[in-house]
Amino acid sequence: MDYKVRLLKKADLQKVYEIEKECFLDPWKYSDLEYEFNGNPVNKFIVIEADGKIVGFNNFMITFNSATITQIAVTREYRRKGLATILLNEMEKMFPKEGEDIVENVTLEVRSSNLPAIKLYEKHGYEVVVKKPHYYADGEDAIYMVKRLMLCH
Ligand SMILES: CC(C)(COP(=O)(O)OP(=O)(O)OC[C@H]1O[C@@H](n2cnc3c(N)ncnc32)[C@H](O)[C@@H]1OP(=O)(O)O)[C@@H](O)C(=O)NCCC(=O)NCCS
Repeated sequence: MDYKVRLLKKADLQKVYEIEKECFLDPWKYSDLEYEFNGNPVNKFIVIEADGKIVGFNNFMITFNSATITQIAVTREYRRKGLATILLNEMEKMFPKEGEDIVENVTLEVRSSNLPAIKLYEKHGYEVVVKKPHYYADGEDAIYMVKRLMLCH
């Protein structure tokens, strides 16, 4: 399958919003996505195209020496084809590798029932750190995970 990973453009926001609604139990509003794209200075937003259309995205933040995955999603039709794996790898390639802003850890929260995502993260080197009880608005627990990047200084 041909794919391409690139930075999100403003014109992509509507498509990303559609993927958001398809993929999440409590989807962000369009205006939330717009803020992350336009207003949040530490946010980065990448999309993955397959068959000439956007089929997934990864939204993450870099603050000091840490990165946080805010959201990652792939449309149902394109799952289990390695696209989220590609998004995670491309995200890591974008991390500063030297200087003060070098990224040492990547963290995230995921719903405790979200086994596909937990399996994806574990396969990619993320470890469970702790459970955050009743983290989500509907009362579900979050699993807090971290990946410690192996950096060569
Ligand atoms: C989680 C998600 C992003 C995975 O995307 P994907 O492109 O299907 O993931 P990949 O194809 O790269 O999968 C890589 C590995 O993750 C694990 N995995 C992915 N989906 C899985 C599933 N449904 N069940 C079990 N393991 C799964 C597997 O180990 C898989 O490797 P394999 O296919 O060789 O067995 C996708 O299911 C999704 O968009 N879910 C809804 C949104 C979401 O929950 N996002 C995460 C929380 S922010």
